[in-house]
Amino acid sequence: MPTSTSYRLAIGLAAMSSLAAAGPCDIYGHGDTPCVAAHSSTRALYDAYSGPLYQVSRASDGTTADISPVSAGSVADAAAQDSFCNGTDCSVTIIYDQTGNANHLTQAPAGSAAGGPDKLASATGAPITLNGKKAYGIKIEPGMGYRCNTAVKTATGDGAEGMYAVLDGTDYNGQCCFDYGNAETNSADNGNAHMEAIYFGLGTGYGTGTGSGPWIMADIENGISAGNQFDVTSTNPSITSRFVTAVVKGEPNQWSIRGGDATTGSLGTYWSGEYPTGYSPMKKEGAIILGIGGDNSNWAQGTFYEGVMTSGYPSDNTENSIVTGMPPLVKFAA
Ligand SMILES: *[C@@H]1O[C@H](CO)[C@@H](O)[C@H](O)[C@H]1NC(C)=O
Repeated sequence: MPTSTSYRLAIGLAAMSSLAAAGPCDIYGHGDTPCVAAHSSTRALYDAYSGPLYQVSRASDGTTADISPVSAGSVADAAAQDSFCNGTDCSVTIIYDQTGNANHLTQAPAGSAAGGPDKLASATGAPITLNGKKAYGIKIEPGMGYRCNTAVKTATGDGAEGMYAVLDGTDYNGQCCFDYGNAETNSADNGNAHMEAIYFGLGTGYGTGTGSGPWIMADIENGISAGNQFDVTSTNPSITSRFVTAVVKGEPNQWSIRGGDATTGSLGTYWSGEYPTGYSPMKKEGAIILGIGGDNSNWAQGTFYEGVMTSGYPSDNTENSIVTGMPPLVKFAA
């Protein structure tokens, strides 16, 4: 029996070509690294997903509404939000997990670095178009943050995982920490290697990439690394695109940081190799954070459009397929 990677890839691509449009989590699934958490306020991340994407709460009467895709696999129904929030302000109260694992992101509680609960993001803070249709991202300002401390099936210990997120490459600061990914389950700094999350911004306290930033890096607790120790990583460039795809993945004795312009369909490898000294084996705890550090450091800003966490270490090819979008190419636009 042929069981090589190329054989499995061929089967996967053949199966995918029968799909009208493969969402990122369909692609990860075909790569044998399924999504275990999938969050987006802009679109369904599975071709078949038609459930709620996020929940908004309006200031006028405190009632809530779930916003779903217009149809299965499609862009969020921004018109439903605009109608519900007409004449008042809405905030985002839940970013639903699309995987069925109920790893929903909600208002982050206090942590060891900052009190809480954190503030909620405005529902209208980050309007964009996606495949020509209006949608809203999650604009995180200092003091805001989301978290799931009870996540299931996310990587723990030295377990393998992958993550990607689409972010606004022009919205950042140098404060800690605009993160998305794996963090402590008790909102406290539990020491080196207790986190593995995507970081985006200008943070210069630890490692950096080249140039003046911002950079895609990884928050691995008590340190943000661009890949090579906590030094300048010569292969990790400053980001200049409006929409950026950021990737961080890790498995025993190996991790990688990748990135690219989310609108052009190509990803570069900014680091692939060993973890910084003192960070292997990892001690991941499996909680999920958005817009904050693992200890609830909540002074950063940034904008999140979508992101997922997987079980297993995704191949570069799988990640490249997500950016290429498989037809049709996903078109983020300001
Ligand atoms: C908002 O309310 C106004 C006044 O009732 C109405 O004219 C407008 O169409 C509404 N907009 C939306 C998006 O529902």
